[in-house]
Amino acid sequence: MIKFLPLFLFLSLPCLAALEDEKEIKAIEKAHAAVDSVKKEFKQRLMEAVQTGDLEKAIPSCKIKVPKPKNMKVGRTSHRLRNPNNAPPEWTKAYLEKFSKAKAEDIPKYVITPLGKNRYGYMQPIFVEPICLNCHGRYVAKDVKAAIRKEYPKDMAINFDVGDFRGLIWLEFEN
Ligand code: HEC
Repeated sequence: MIKFLPLFLFLSLPCLAALEDEKEIKAIEKAHAAVDSVKKEFKQRLMEAVQTGDLEKAIPSCKIKVPKPKNMKVGRTSHRLRNPNNAPPEWTKAYLEKFSKAKAEDIPKYVITPLGKNRYGYMQPIFVEPICLNCHGRYVAKDVKAAIRKEYPKDMAINFDVGDFRGLIWLEFEN
């Protein structure tokens, strides 16, 4: 048997690697689905809010209020925070730092990273779109600005331009 052990190991290693890959693919699929639904819900609420024209009342619509997928932690974070409660989880910090200095085209569409046995961290970058400028741009309406200042006295999430890296949407989950 000893004689065959190296052969056995040699043959089974790629197999194990494939299994790992498959597990990771499953994790990625799960994460994509969860993020897609959070983003869709969030965009829709933002769109509705901005269309009604009352931006001051729309301010709460940039909070994540969607039902969180089961057994998942979901959040948004940034290198320039509006709400200090959205501070980055430890494992996202290095990415946040790196992406905030990178060119948009050099930022990966997503990152998945193991956080322990069967536990994953997943993130997607968020970029500034025209609609975001209403509350994160250089020319935020006076009353909106005042309302933001009042609720978020330490606001750093202003003076962004379209296409800027704004932050991350992140997940932690078991798979
Ligand atoms: C109507 C005003 C408004 C608009 C429009 C808006 N935001 Fe926000 N944004 C806010 C407020 C208020 C917060 C703080 C939310 C909270 O308390 O969690 C926030 C927080 C965030 C955060 C969480 C990190 C942080 O800084 O606290 C991200 C990321 C973000 N916004 C991205 C965007 C993007 C991307 C868009 C455009 C698609 C957008 N926002 C449009 C008002 C707005």
